[in-house]
Amino acid sequence: MTEAAPKKLHIKTYGCQMNVYDSERMAGLLAPLGYALTDAVDDADMVLLNTCHIREKAAEKVYSELGRINKIKEARKGDGGTMILGVTGCVAQAEGEEVLRRAPFVDMVFGPQTYHRLPEMVARLHREKGAQLDTDFPEESKFDHLSAPARVEGRSAFLTVQEGCDKFCTFCVVPYTRGSEFSRPVDQVMDEARQLAAAGACEITLLGQNVNAYHGVHDGGELGLGELIERLAKVDGIERLRYTTSYPAEIDDALIAAHRDVPELMPYLHLPVQSGSDRVLKAMNRRHDRAFYIDLVARLRQARPDLGLSSDFIVGFPGESDADFEDTLSLVRDVGYIQAYSFKYSPRPGTPAAAMELQVPEDVKDARLAALQDLLNTQQLAFNESCVGRTMPVLLDRVGRHEGQLVGRSPYMQAVHVAAPAEWLGRIVDLRIVGAGGNSLSAVPDEDLRERKTA
Ligand code: 5AD
Ligand code: SF4
Repeated sequence: MTEAAPKKLHIKTYGCQMNVYDSERMAGLLAPLGYALTDAVDDADMVLLNTCHIREKAAEKVYSELGRINKIKEARKGDGGTMILGVTGCVAQAEGEEVLRRAPFVDMVFGPQTYHRLPEMVARLHREKGAQLDTDFPEESKFDHLSAPARVEGRSAFLTVQEGCDKFCTFCVVPYTRGSEFSRPVDQVMDEARQLAAAGACEITLLGQNVNAYHGVHDGGELGLGELIERLAKVDGIERLRYTTSYPAEIDDALIAAHRDVPELMPYLHLPVQSGSDRVLKAMNRRHDRAFYIDLVARLRQARPDLGLSSDFIVGFPGESDADFEDTLSLVRDVGYIQAYSFKYSPRPGTPAAAMELQVPEDVKDARLAALQDLLNTQQLAFNESCVGRTMPVLLDRVGRHEGQLVGRSPYMQAVHVAAPAEWLGRIVDLRIVGAGGNSLSAVPDEDLRERKTA
């Protein structure tokens, strides 16, 4: 028998960074079966949609995309070929059977906790008739079956250290789609970090739905996220560490201390507050009030005075009054964000807030979102402009749109554009910021061209 021709795999990833991490690992699991990644859905032998269920819009997008891909699948069949179509991620977990009902041409539906069984599912597809459905929360951990990629493009990698959420904010589907909180053992995380560094990563972003709930087993005890960060900073080759997403009520002193003591930990923190109104925070079941959040920010800034903050906000949560919304605006003014994400509340099936009375009308949500985004954009631009004249270490991780241009990330996650030699790609270089817009900075090489540690 001749060896099977190499097959092509297309993965479309929606939603959060954890989905990006999962998609990379799925590609790794399918590589031994002969699948190589392609950007072109049209010539893929397998297409996976790694989906997001957080807001209605994100979930609905999946079904229209499935319809589009089915046309390609049908055309392929007409030519005597085949295409395997799989749906994974949080829509698959939440809607399982419903996906197969609405899109009966889908071959595999599997959740975020079972994708390590992908090779088995593909084998069964070839043997058995009908679609494969696997939305278990299995006893065994998928992490025992995954390996880090052999090469890290752009030198920045994600590393999932924690998954799931037990907080049950009343608007959120995550506790239902990702399951309860789980922390990977410290040794497993350290091994993966070493592998990522060996594959070229100099920056690692630690991921978890609730990353600061991390408590990984170690030597008969447990380590928290702050201690884990201290250890990771010592891994050869790791120059930058980040973590996301944090739950304010669970940031402990050791993590705050890491911001003070670990220079590799970047001075940027995504710390979602959702609302500035105590009444709304309570209805959201956020387990902290406005004063606690503001005090936490002060403690973090005391540890790391140059810390830049980001947040998520929801406007139009059920019962949110004009006064509640004003409290959100005033919290934004009090804290000062360097960037943020804001969303209109989207009722999600099965969550307590979806059944609450006093749902806010769409036009009110629209107006509040516009006002909030206006304020956030003003703050973001002001921060970007305050960077002009400063010299910052920038990780140049991609080629720009213009000839001779590279693009990188500042410590604050700003995109920085610079005209620079192509061999600087992948390095951390000191750049002088000379221009600022709402979404990016422009820079020139620092006068003395002092390069930081390079690969
Ligand atoms: N509606 C709107 N935004 C939501 N988020 C989570 N659930 C909802 C929802 N039902 C937002 C929160 C969270 C971010 C990832 O998405 O702000 O922090
Ligand atoms: Fe959702 Fe709240 Fe858990 Fe974050 S902390 S994942 S918003 S339930």
